[in-house]
Amino acid sequence: MVCLGNICRSPLAEGILQSKLPSGKFTIDSAGTGDYHIGSLPDKRSIEVARKYDLDISNQRGRQFSEADFDRFDIIYVMDSSNYENVIKKARNDKDIEKVKMILNEIYPGQNHDVPDPYTGGIQGFDSTFKMLDEACNEIAKKILN
Ligand code: 4NP
Repeated sequence: MVCLGNICRSPLAEGILQSKLPSGKFTIDSAGTGDYHIGSLPDKRSIEVARKYDLDISNQRGRQFSEADFDRFDIIYVMDSSNYENVIKKARNDKDIEKVKMILNEIYPGQNHDVPDPYTGGIQGFDSTFKMLDEACNEIAKKILN
């Protein structure tokens, strides 16, 4: 799960998907394309909204996406088109590129909608981020478990 800062959207996506899959069977992680928040906790508002839906994401720490992630993961979900461009810049070949998907295409196939960045807004934006990621992760979990 990849966003820009790895403190707002992708930590939520990581926690939500983890909660929908059997523990220990899959490696789910998140990262940011930027380096501003390496080692940081998720944003307080992401922790708060996750807690509201009974998820604890406070064990996560920020890290930056790197080329090695193409080898460690089968699918790389990005939150928006800017994340997509930044991740694709690090791809080494077509196989890497094929791994990168816009997460909301799981619910709106082919439409390339962004998960809006809630960072500069209030808690309501985080709530709506949670809901759209929850819907997308339902589809992802369904596909993976099938
Ligand atoms: P995120 O939100 O990409 O959903 O984690 C952001 C968090 C921090 C910044 C940008 C986006 N920032 O510029 O510090």
